[in-house]
Amino acid sequence: MNIIRNQSLKSYNTFGIDVKADFFYELNSVQELNEISSSEVFQNEDLLIISGGSNLLLTKNFKGFVLKNNILGIELVKEDENDVFLKVGAGEDWHELVMYAVGNNWGGIENLSLIPGNAGTAPMQNIGAYGVELKDTFVCLEAFEIASGKVHSFTNNDCCFGYRESIFKNTHKGKYIITSITIKLSKKPLINIKYGDIKNELHKSNIANPSIRDVSNAVIKIRKSKLPDPNEIGNSGSFFKNPVITKAKLEQLLKTHPDIVKYPLDENKFKIAAGWLIEKAGWKGKTFDNYGVHKKQALVLVNYGGAKGNDINKLSELIIEDINAKFGIRLEKEVNVI
Ligand code: EPU
Repeated sequence: MNIIRNQSLKSYNTFGIDVKADFFYELNSVQELNEISSSEVFQNEDLLIISGGSNLLLTKNFKGFVLKNNILGIELVKEDENDVFLKVGAGEDWHELVMYAVGNNWGGIENLSLIPGNAGTAPMQNIGAYGVELKDTFVCLEAFEIASGKVHSFTNNDCCFGYRESIFKNTHKGKYIITSITIKLSKKPLINIKYGDIKNELHKSNIANPSIRDVSNAVIKIRKSKLPDPNEIGNSGSFFKNPVITKAKLEQLLKTHPDIVKYPLDENKFKIAAGWLIEKAGWKGKTFDNYGVHKKQALVLVNYGGAKGNDINKLSELIIEDINAKFGIRLEKEVNVI
């Protein structure tokens, strides 16, 4: 078991932050996890699990043990007339999984094309985009309990999914290592193009009856036009969540900001586009040396190369304070700051 010391984490987080881990190991199987969990380093050091590293802002060297989850494998575990059930290793690249599903004409995750990260971290924050969330196709997952060394199964209900939320970000934070997820995809896909941007994109390409490949292509096009490619500019997608406010609060804001971007959730709750708030407050495209707010999507903070995680975190705090002062709304970070 070759545990590496003083490993740079730069290529293991999509923000591209260059900090080091005292101890580092790339995990390739559940079997290896059983072995490594009895090591002294695993038992005595603070533990950080990295999978795709796409929802992570590292602000300092990690004084502990980083386990990079590379567990691979896509297995068709069940199939009937309507659906297929895929068990997917936590280390599988999410977008490649989507491409595999689209290639087989299995529907359900095509709207989640091009989301950076791996299958095993997708449930942590219930990844979502263009009207679809992981929870819509998620069946169950297996996770290794760090304290006991036992593997537990969690159903969709057990995970308590919410908007960018799950039990693994709350009560179960830091207690489990997800080893696989199982999703259910449809052999008779239903197209979901409710999200305006997709409709417009398909319209532009003169596609009236889209296939799931067409939807996937449209999503890829939209994402590429707005969101920076982490291979070119370090980032973690949306840095903040879209806040939810009450009707009373919305009515008060509409008096001064009639153009506020809002989506009704129920009679009394509205989701507000945080990107709009940040842009309106003048932050969009702001650059400080080698980091800043993305020029095309104000919800995304970026590392132009060599930035410190702490500087990006401080920028996020300044934005939170400013939005609170200007709109009376406190933004919450979506990204995990370590
Ligand atoms: N907007 C602005 N200025 C901006 C950005 C957005 O005014 O700089 C307004 C526009 O009116 C736009 C609206 O906000 O129409 C919504 O923007 P967009 O469609 O880009 O979506 P979002 O609400 O900013 C959310 C998710 C994204 C997901 C998209 C599409 C969150 C925190 N973010 O962004 O997810 O891809 O919807 O479904 O919910 C992620 O979580 O990392 C992520 C990228």
